[in-house]
Amino acid sequence: MSADNPYVIWHNATVTRERRERQNNHRACVLWFTGLSGSGKSTLAHAAEEALHQLGCRTFVLDGDNVRHGLSSNLGFSEEDRRENIRRIGEAAKLMMEAGIIAMTAFISPFRSDREAVRKLMPHGDFLEIYCSASLEVCEARDVKGLYKKARAGIIKNYTGIDSPYEPPDKPELIIDTGKMTLSDSVAEVLSLMRRRGILTDALDSEAS
Ligand code: ADX
Repeated sequence: MSADNPYVIWHNATVTRERRERQNNHRACVLWFTGLSGSGKSTLAHAAEEALHQLGCRTFVLDGDNVRHGLSSNLGFSEEDRRENIRRIGEAAKLMMEAGIIAMTAFISPFRSDREAVRKLMPHGDFLEIYCSASLEVCEARDVKGLYKKARAGIIKNYTGIDSPYEPPDKPELIIDTGKMTLSDSVAEVLSLMRRRGILTDALDSEAS
């Protein structure tokens, strides 16, 4: 592995994360949305991104279904493949954060240990876990992509919530019951968390108003 290769030398950039953040007028972070398929992770991440963009923030959403067409196109839904998927996304989100961006990820990321491993990649306080807590009943009733029906019929195997587990976070930074709360209230909760954590500054808010 190249991490252990003595001939691969780390190069330090002069344009640091701090300088990028100063230029952007906000801090970078990773907003990690987790929850069942159909719980509204992507919808909330994109709506929060829209609000942040309008405030002048630099953002990017890494979205489960899209990433599985590219970066993770060789991965399926076994436990091992999901772990590798989350590891890759974690590293990609970290790079974006180092580039000064508010990186938002919308993956089921069903396993607690995988999410914790990603959290440990980042400096303390930079990883904000947001649990979209809509219940299986709500997600299955929505069945936006018709995949729960296929999973119940046994056409799709290892479907999260049906025959593959989802482990809710123990201590997420935020829980949003996306089965009950409106989208605009959910976005407001995310932005309020970011203000409390000092990611968004007052200067930014007054510029936008
Ligand atoms: S994760 O478990 O590795 O985090 P990810 O978020 O990338 O999953 O992909 C989830 C999406 O893939 C779902 O929203 C659904 O559309 C699709 N999908 C296809 N097969 C499965 C499956 N067996 N379990 C869960 N999602 C699946």
